[in-house]
Order: sequence, then C-alpha cells, then structure tokens
Amino acid sequence: MRRVVTIDGPAGSGKSTVARIVAERLGWRLLDTGAMYRSVALAALRAGIDLADEEALGTLASRITVSLPPGQVLLDDQDVTQAIRTVEVTRVTRFAAENPKVRQILAFWQRAFAAENDTITEGRDQGTVVFPDAPCKFFLTADPNERARRRHAEFLDRGESISFDEVLCDQQRRDAEDTERTLAPLRPAEDATLIDTTGRTIEEIATIVEAAARRCSGEASLPEPPQS
Ligand code: DC
Repeated sequence: MRRVVTIDGPAGSGKSTVARIVAERLGWRLLDTGAMYRSVALAALRAGIDLADEEALGTLASRITVSLPPGQVLLDDQDVTQAIRTVEVTRVTRFAAENPKVRQILAFWQRAFAAENDTITEGRDQGTVVFPDAPCKFFLTADPNERARRRHAEFLDRGESISFDEVLCDQQRRDAEDTERTLAPLRPAEDATLIDTTGRTIEEIATIVEAAARRCSGEASLPEPPQS
C-alpha cells in the first residue's frame, strides 16, 4: 500500500477542488470516486438498463472498465469526463451508490488504484469503509445554501440550465440518500479531521489539508511546498 489521504463529505463541500489542488502540490494521484459511481450510472443509461434492477446493474458494473488517468474519466476507454456531470446522470447515480455489488466492485478498484499510486482520494466512504486504516482523513462540510450555490455555478458554467431552487432541492434529496442508506453511508470516520468550509477559501482549506498530509505521511520524503 502506498500513501493515502482520504477526503469525504457531501456534494459542494469543496472536497473535489481541495483534493485536486493537494494532489497536484504533492505530486500524488487524485482518485475521484464519485466519478466512478457516475460512470456506472452513465453506462447503464447508455445500455438502456433499468437502474433499479439491482442484479442487472451489478452485472453491468462487473463488465465495464472505468479508469482515471490524470484529468480524465474513461468508460471502456471512451472519454466521459464531461458526460458524467450532467443533471440527468447526477440524479440517477444514486442507483449505483445504493447497489451492493457496484459498491463492492468500485471499492476493489479504488484499493487497487491506491496500491499503485500515492493517492488523495475523495468520496463519501473513503475514510470509513474503503481505507479505514489511512493515517490521514478529512471530512469537509459547508452550509447547504453555500454548497448549492457552488453546484449551481458549476452547472451554469457547463451550459446546463437549472434553477438554484432545483439544485438545492436535488441536494437535499441526495444528502438524505447518502446519509441514510445502510450501505457505506456518508459520515465522518471517528479519526477524521472535520473542516467546515463555509465562508473560507479553497486555498485556505487546501493549505490545511496539504500540511496535514505531509505530516501524516512523512514530510521528508515529499517535495517541499512552494515558497510564497
Ligand atoms: O461526489 P459526486 O457528486 O461526484 O458523487 C456522485 C454520487 O456518488 C453521489 O450521489 C454519492 C455517490 N458516491 C458514493 O456513494 N460513494 C462515494 N465514495 C462517492 C460518491
């Protein structure tokens, strides 16, 4: 096992951006586990599979490959980096997240990835289920309105037309689904550092996580932080 830092938290908490920045600064790989769940959902939509059919979705997940070369998401070698971010895929990804077989397969891929690479991994269950022994864990939260504002801006940037109220409503539903499901629910690991990102800059949070990652994983063997 190489070095692993886990960052979990709800949608819009800032974890994806923080994880990307810290991975870049440390020269580690970023593991966006939400992208994996989204890719399974997209594969099912494209194959015309009923996402609620637990067995069919599990079988599909065992037949596809999802890989995460730097900056990209590949589904069976096809670039789906943008396609997995639509409102439609975002809404149906819960079927993949609730599916035991899918979770089992993706957790296996995630551990295999971390066995090969020093990894900053982000998701919902990374510190609790997939990497319970990681020495350095974070759980990011933020005020729901601020989280919805961030998500809404992301959708608009990508040219999707959706109202703020719809994003907030979808977010409330997803939060409930993520925290209330019995399988790998969204919750902080007991040994995770909790950070509320409301009203704070991404830069500030990234600096905290980077410093902790260096401390937890042996500073001497890591590149020096840039001098400001
Ligand atoms: O982080 P995201 O919005 O890209 O995640 C997409 C969905 O996948 C979200 O509904 C929660 C789910 N997910 C999960 O259940 N476990 C993970 N480790 C990552 C994401």
